[in-house]
Amino acid sequence: MVLWMNAICKEISMPHLGVGSYSCIEVSIRGRLAKRSKKTAPFLIASCRLIAMRKSYQTMAGNKSLNAAIKAKQDEFYTQINDISNELKHYRNHFCGKVVFCNCDDPYESNFFKYFALNFNSLGLKKLIATCYDGSPVMGNELLLQFDTPNCEPKKIAYKVEITEVDDYNGDGAVNLADVAYLLQNDKNVLSRLKGNGDFRSPECVELLKQTDIVCTNPPFSLFREYVAQLMKYEKKFLIIGNQNALKYKEIFPLIMRNQLWLGNKSGDMSFQVPDSYEARETRYWQDNSGQKWRSLGNICWYTNLDHKKRHELLDLIREYSPKEYPTYDNYPAINVNKFADIPCDYDGIMGVPITFIDKYNPDQFEILGVLNHGCDSEFDLAKPTINGKDLYSRILIRKKK
Ligand SMILES: C[S@@+](CC[C@H](N)C(=O)[O-])C[C@H]1O[C@@H](n2cnc3c(N)ncnc32)[C@H](O)[C@@H]1O
Repeated sequence: MVLWMNAICKEISMPHLGVGSYSCIEVSIRGRLAKRSKKTAPFLIASCRLIAMRKSYQTMAGNKSLNAAIKAKQDEFYTQINDISNELKHYRNHFCGKVVFCNCDDPYESNFFKYFALNFNSLGLKKLIATCYDGSPVMGNELLLQFDTPNCEPKKIAYKVEITEVDDYNGDGAVNLADVAYLLQNDKNVLSRLKGNGDFRSPECVELLKQTDIVCTNPPFSLFREYVAQLMKYEKKFLIIGNQNALKYKEIFPLIMRNQLWLGNKSGDMSFQVPDSYEARETRYWQDNSGQKWRSLGNICWYTNLDHKKRHELLDLIREYSPKEYPTYDNYPAINVNKFADIPCDYDGIMGVPITFIDKYNPDQFEILGVLNHGCDSEFDLAKPTINGKDLYSRILIRKKK
């Protein structure tokens, strides 16, 4: 690897290799650059040039109005590998012989890609595909093209990586830039530039989706509805990160009711790396010793349609029903239960429970009948939750299964 890096670094000083002038379509790194063609050179050089210039790019990214729209949408939350592996361990049995697609994931910085690359053999994967969206702001910075125009902002390119064989790693126990390059030295693994921008809705990404068994990623929060709709349209299995607020979306709640989508294992707090361009906040924000910015969110969860053990655990019911403790809503014939732990064991009618119940929902034990929110959000939003004229938080309407 040192030789490999040295070889490329030498090339960095070759001024005539302006990457913008090449149409670098297909790049497959084979045999430690031995078979490098004219077409692959710019790509590799751009990559290495960037490593060398990483710091200055970070400053550029921080100072300019880089991707202002994305910044406003706050979509760039990068998942930690521990959070991924802690969740994925509950689904290992689903992956053998499967094609996994991480469709919002730059392989050089996404821990989803790294997790699946690391566990490719132990999960028995058939193929791993990851696509990189060119709208991502500079973050890891490892794979960018620097166009020759001075003052030009660094631009991320859209590309895909397809992995079908993972040899033993170089033994350093980590998957990083060097390891991704190492992976690509295998003839069976290919890195190629996408024609479009890598949007998960683009025709070429949809084609990749069609050949996929399981999609796994943390999709852009601002496009969550559309993202899930696409998964449903193509009837894909998935395990994705989202915000708990999405539970109440009129596009998402019916899927939960119909048991087409449910929560994974972990819900609640999660910390994410965010780009340099993200502004400091008073709460749930910090910078670590390396200067990396972090944000945490308290209402994150996994959404999936892969079955898992927790989903079939019975919720212990220890309370008994009394009309005084469990009053009926003003405008809907159901009793109000303030905490899911208080669901009475001896009540067979309809009950309104807090949204947090979804995390304990076992479809063998309960059925979901609707929601009490504004009374008008969708056909499943059956009333506003009020008791004696007092407004309550949203409730999910459930009933015990016979
Ligand atoms: C919440 S971040 C998560 C990144 C990565 N999956 C991870 O978990 O670390 C969502 C990513 O989706 C990318 N993205 C935004 N819009 C996209 C789109 N339309 N198609 C594909 N990716 C998109 C963002 O640039 C961002 O990198």
